[in-house]
Amino acid sequence: SVPVLTIDGPSGSGKGTISALVAQQLGWHLLDSGALYRAVGYAAGMEGLDLSDVEAVTRCARTTRIQFRAKKGAETRVIVNGHDATDELRTETAGAAASAIASVPSVREALVSLQLGFRKAPGLVADGRDMGTVIFPDAAFKVFLTASAAERAKRRYKQLKDKGLSVTLSGLQREIEARDSRDASRAVAPLKPAADALLVDTTGMGIDEVVAKVLAVVQP
Ligand code: CDP
Repeated sequence: SVPVLTIDGPSGSGKGTISALVAQQLGWHLLDSGALYRAVGYAAGMEGLDLSDVEAVTRCARTTRIQFRAKKGAETRVIVNGHDATDELRTETAGAAASAIASVPSVREALVSLQLGFRKAPGLVADGRDMGTVIFPDAAFKVFLTASAAERAKRRYKQLKDKGLSVTLSGLQREIEARDSRDASRAVAPLKPAADALLVDTTGMGIDEVVAKVLAVVQP
């Protein structure tokens, strides 16, 4: 069957950057599962839904149209119900909305078949929180990236500032910690490494170094 490499971890662990680079190097497809939860949270916000209304957000997860538009050498755009929402999805507001709706089991179920559909030849790199534990438990290759909370906040701060967003390091660190603890403590698909995942602490590691470590899992 089509090989899958799962890359899970908390916010700011470098998953997004590493997954994109590794997928590019391998020539494999990429699933940014966090973008799906962000898109549903965003769509729910646009509709003015109460994020704690389970029925409403579940319907939203089932009906929201999410498309990825990849351009060579440019950032992949995320189109939500026909609208390019890439910039809005990047904000920590969208991250918090994603985390809120991601704790609803029926929302997660609504996104399963969409995610499984990304498994296409020659292979898939799947980036998220539960790729190795829930969505692709049979994946041949599994990695779990971590880094200290301070380093993760710093990375995310730099990333958002580079995109021209106004953020403060202390505010961001608080928001990320709140999101991480919710993601780790929720009843369904809590953030945790798969038993057979390689744990990589990326604190103090450069991007190239992490990419090499992850590629070595697939091509030893
Ligand atoms: O980039 P970052 O790691 O900060 O966030 P993300 O990967 O875009 O995910 C945003 C939120 O979606 C997370 O905080 C999780 O609550 C949720 N999520 C999830 O529950 N399961 C996934 N496979 C991916 C994301």
